Amino acid sequence: MLAWTTTPDEPSGLALSEVPDPVPQAHEVIVRVEAFAPNPGDLAALPGAPAGAVPGWDGSGVVLEPAADGTGPRAGDRVLFLGLTGGWAQKRAVSRQFLGTAPAGVSWEELATLPVPATSALRAVRRLGSVLGRRVLVVGASSAVGRAAVQIAARSGAQVVAVARDESRHREIRRLGAHETHTSPASISSRVHGAIDLIGGQHLVDAYALLEAGGTVIALGHAAGDDERFPYGAFVADLATADRSITSFFLATEPDLGDEMQYLAAAGLDIGPIDSRPWTELARWIGSGAPRGSGRVVFRVDHDA
Ligand SMILES: NC(=O)c1ccc[n+]([C@@H]2O[C@H](COP(=O)([O-])OP(=O)(O)OC[C@H]3O[C@@H](n4cnc5c(N)ncnc54)[C@H](OP(=O)(O)O)[C@@H]3O)[C@@H](O)[C@H]2O)c1
Repeated sequence: MLAWTTTPDEPSGLALSEVPDPVPQAHEVIVRVEAFAPNPGDLAALPGAPAGAVPGWDGSGVVLEPAADGTGPRAGDRVLFLGLTGGWAQKRAVSRQFLGTAPAGVSWEELATLPVPATSALRAVRRLGSVLGRRVLVVGASSAVGRAAVQIAARSGAQVVAVARDESRHREIRRLGAHETHTSPASISSRVHGAIDLIGGQHLVDAYALLEAGGTVIALGHAAGDDERFPYGAFVADLATADRSITSFFLATEPDLGDEMQYLAAAGLDIGPIDSRPWTELARWIGSGAPRGSGRVVFRVDHDA
């Protein structure tokens, strides 16, 4: 089969190469990949990947071979999936726990954008406990994970407070379900039950300061790449601020995502505009700095090559 592999010999660090078909373990399904959508984690991991690796996390496609242990979807099922490697290829072995079946009406491109952003958002909202009638802060609400978190929290009954630095996106974020929008946490005046932070740096410090007693910040993303510096007093508690916490998050340690991926595929989530391209353009796109607009770039895999 053909796959994009890492190589030091190309300026982009990638070459389209002939590689052996994947060999599944008992709990893995072999899929024919129809589309994949590079996410920030993929791109950040590329420079450190060993030569000859097939990168790629998020994708969608059709089951070619069901898992040998008899679990999971059947041959011919439409699926969406994730994994830490192997996605930028014509075929891929995927663990049953990171794969969900998908309804017919959702495009390959839409499905490929969902796995990491939507499952991360769902698991983060769930970690906040019941959000019904409670204020939930989403910092970085214009990101893919942020958009998914706004929608999932709003559907769960939360009063969603959204922060996105670009004010021109606020109308759209309100359409997704946010009740309040801000360009920075600094303008938020009432405390929140919980927060999901995709940006880090000062945003994380500010999100923690906004928690009510018992509240939690999920430090899910670090898009700003900035240090966090907490001022003296940030962790001194009183009646209004006791028992607050910050927790780190890594999707790959979250087990059994398959059923939730199936739910999310059918949930009609909108995680932004899709820019669909042939997969032969991947290296050129990455070589030019992986530019994107407000949504995801998705690559359609060619099986006739
Ligand atoms: N821990 C995990 O398991 C896990 C899972 C999924 C994602 N993540 C992380 O979560 C973050 C979001 O992922 P994504 O896929 O949603 O990202 P994305 O769609 O690429 O969006 C990135 C966002 O970061 C914003 N941003 C970048 N620099 C900023 C700054 N200095 N100040 C304020 N905003 C800034 C951008 O704002 P503009 O739109 O205004 O440019 C954009 O909304 C990433 O850091 C990703 O690596 C972690």
